Amino acid sequence: MSDLLNQEEHIKKAQEIVSGIGIPSQPKIVMDINREINKPEADLSKISDIVSMDVAMSAKLLKIANSPFFGLKEKVDSIQRALALLGLKNFYNIILATSLRENLGGHGSAIEKFWSHSMATATISSQIAQKVGFTSIDQAYIAGLFHDCGVPLLIKKYPNYVEITDYALGVVGTESLKGLLKSIIGIEDERYNTHHCAIGYLVAKSWHLSQAVTQSILHHHYVNIDIHTDATTKQLAAILLLADYIGGYLLFLSGSICTVDPETEWAQRHQKVMDELSLSVNDIEDMKEDLTEKLRK
Ligand SMILES: [Fe+2]
Ligand SMILES: [Fe+2]
Repeated sequence: MSDLLNQEEHIKKAQEIVSGIGIPSQPKIVMDINREINKPEADLSKISDIVSMDVAMSAKLLKIANSPFFGLKEKVDSIQRALALLGLKNFYNIILATSLRENLGGHGSAIEKFWSHSMATATISSQIAQKVGFTSIDQAYIAGLFHDCGVPLLIKKYPNYVEITDYALGVVGTESLKGLLKSIIGIEDERYNTHHCAIGYLVAKSWHLSQAVTQSILHHHYVNIDIHTDATTKQLAAILLLADYIGGYLLFLSGSICTVDPETEWAQRHQKVMDELSLSVNDIEDMKEDLTEKLRK
């Protein structure tokens, strides 16, 4: 049975797994954009040049920029225009999500479900971050985007993982282990001596994501957020737990097989998350309604 004490063992085993299949590392385009963004004054024309040089990435970016999700009033046909209209943050998030998708690879319905859940959780996570005044909306988005990236890697290594993918992405299984873990982690531990959180943690580290993000990913099925001593990490972990729940609910709405607890039951089991974010059950219900409409697009 999994518990926090053997997290090191889980990471060790996760390392073995990813070394066998190759850990997706941060691509050059993301590294180059990061370098530019981190300068005291980011040069936007340099950023659009970096992206324009990558024809496949440019095509994908324009397709996403023109999707109903962003609701742009005009059709965008150049990278410079996309950057101007979307803003640097949205632009960067699209590059990050597209790069991660390419690097993780895989195909089939389980992978598609994984992506809808990851993209939904990223968006929900950034909305919650905004609502609760979290210091970095971007970090919340990135945590949501990467949180389950261990799932496609487990599918790659163990094709029979698809049997439990729905359960993993449903997120809110009714059982919990000692009030610390949701049961998917226990199932994964029994089968593989590790879990998708530990594998996702390694990917996040290889992409040089922040400590708050990597730790939130590693513990995104732990309801006891008090294990985080750093205040930012604790709040991000709480945001991710709630976003993951709502992300699972939306997947459920799209017809996937997953179990969803009513808000009240979820809230009872996640009292620490509710307290940390100062949210009520009604707040969660309202948020779910708003986000359902936005994400269905
Ligand atoms: Fe997960
Ligand atoms: Fe998830």
